[in-house]
Amino acid sequence: MLKTLTLAALTATVAFAPLMATAQSKTETVEATLKADAPGPQISRHIYGQFSEHLGLGVYEGIWVGEDSTIPNTRGIRNDVVAALKAIKMPVVRWPGGCFADEYHWRDGIGERSKRPARKNNWWGGTPETNAFGTHEFFDFVEQVGSEAYISINVGSSTPKEMREWIEYMTSPGTDDLANERRANGRDAPFKVPYIGIGNESWGCGGNMTPEYYADEYRRFSAFFHKGSDNPALRIASGSNADDVNWTDVLTKNAGRFMDGISLHYYTLPTNNWTTKGPATNFPVEQWNSTFYQTTQMDQILKDHIAAMDKNDPQKRIGLYVDEWGTWYDVEKGTNPGHLYQQNTLRDGIVAAANFNIFHRYTERVKMTNIAQTINVLQAMILTDKEKMALTPTYYAYKMYVPFQDATPLPVEVNAPTLTAGKDKDGKDKTYPAFNVSAAKAKDGKTYVGVANMDADKGYKISLDLGTLKAKKVTGDVLTATKLDAHNIPGQKEVVTTTSFKGGKIAGGKLTLDVPAKSVVVVAVE
Ligand code: AHR
Repeated sequence: MLKTLTLAALTATVAFAPLMATAQSKTETVEATLKADAPGPQISRHIYGQFSEHLGLGVYEGIWVGEDSTIPNTRGIRNDVVAALKAIKMPVVRWPGGCFADEYHWRDGIGERSKRPARKNNWWGGTPETNAFGTHEFFDFVEQVGSEAYISINVGSSTPKEMREWIEYMTSPGTDDLANERRANGRDAPFKVPYIGIGNESWGCGGNMTPEYYADEYRRFSAFFHKGSDNPALRIASGSNADDVNWTDVLTKNAGRFMDGISLHYYTLPTNNWTTKGPATNFPVEQWNSTFYQTTQMDQILKDHIAAMDKNDPQKRIGLYVDEWGTWYDVEKGTNPGHLYQQNTLRDGIVAAANFNIFHRYTERVKMTNIAQTINVLQAMILTDKEKMALTPTYYAYKMYVPFQDATPLPVEVNAPTLTAGKDKDGKDKTYPAFNVSAAKAKDGKTYVGVANMDADKGYKISLDLGTLKAKKVTGDVLTATKLDAHNIPGQKEVVTTTSFKGGKIAGGKLTLDVPAKSVVVVAVE
């Protein structure tokens, strides 16, 4: 029997608790059911994708240190970062932007490095852009990691001609001048480009366009895309901001037949206010709650965009690419405000897992997501300080969820208790689930269950009826810490990392998970 509880009283306690979470109240048992015989469409591994923009220390220092650096590197690319990203099987990486992409001219980033032009990164702090990291360096990075490329094309300040030429340069196997120029620059075989985004935030930094205007632009660029055997890339239209469903509606209606995917950007701001977003560490406890309220809005946002897509694309041919998402806090004091550098705490690790559990519900449409951003920017996997590096709680959440890549989702029915994060403008409680869950049958034959417990104070005993799944053994990992804002610092001993999970038991066809407060748990059952 499913059980719903209201935890208003508990939430009131949480709201004024110090950052060291309050003493845990008694663990509550919640019943759940696994629908092992109702598998959904595959969880594309690309749901675990990344976004690496020329922004702050994301690319320069984060990935590229140059061949002469004392930081160990392979052809200028950090070895420690490549090894860390390989370990989470980073499936795809979007580059070169973001807003940067709509001012990027690919010719600036090819040829002899010392001769490349110096530009100003207008969007991100006016920082000098050396162009040392260009097309060849990007593909070297992708290939070293064993990942795939998602190229973002300049629509806002460029032309279809420039797009066509860059695509030809990257992908032509022929004897045309652009292919020969690529060869002269050291690369004989064409690069593999499976995904190309045509524009970025075309409603904003990508050109301030209306959806109708951008749909026409998109159609014009599409005509010169020359999709075929040399260029089999999927075409992704620049999508909407958060809940702007009209953008998705107009785009899929007016230009749907020219696209394979449409993107969506949704960032989690604790305050939902772009002027004062809230700090990454040492945050008031109410911002723990509001962060989880904001982040779980992803569920409704996906539903709404998918409904618009279903109307204009009932065959469900077009994928939804959430190619920017994650937490966005106030920049760390003393850092360049244009570099979007923020610490990453246990809260972020749980945010990541809560979103994975949501994405797994919409695999029919959601074909890729790219968290913003891989290194040193926003909700990063990795923070660097010159030669030192820290793996963040978000990194560990990605690591725990690796078995979900290309797995088959199995629905989980559960009515999690709800928590509240204040009131909305109409005076209604802003509620969110205390935890969310997803399950999948992985390539290794095991069934994995992932839980994101967003409750700062309370653990849950989840009693999952395994239905037709016969299993005897449960093993897994947990990510948690004592403090809500526990985080790792480059060069210092790790504070937040995964440990072996001892709270799982199988008996009488039920899997019981004793999930601690503020944690991520992933278990394998077999
Ligand atoms: O990820 C940072 C920025 O956020 C991107 O450049 C832009 O697309 C979005 O507004």
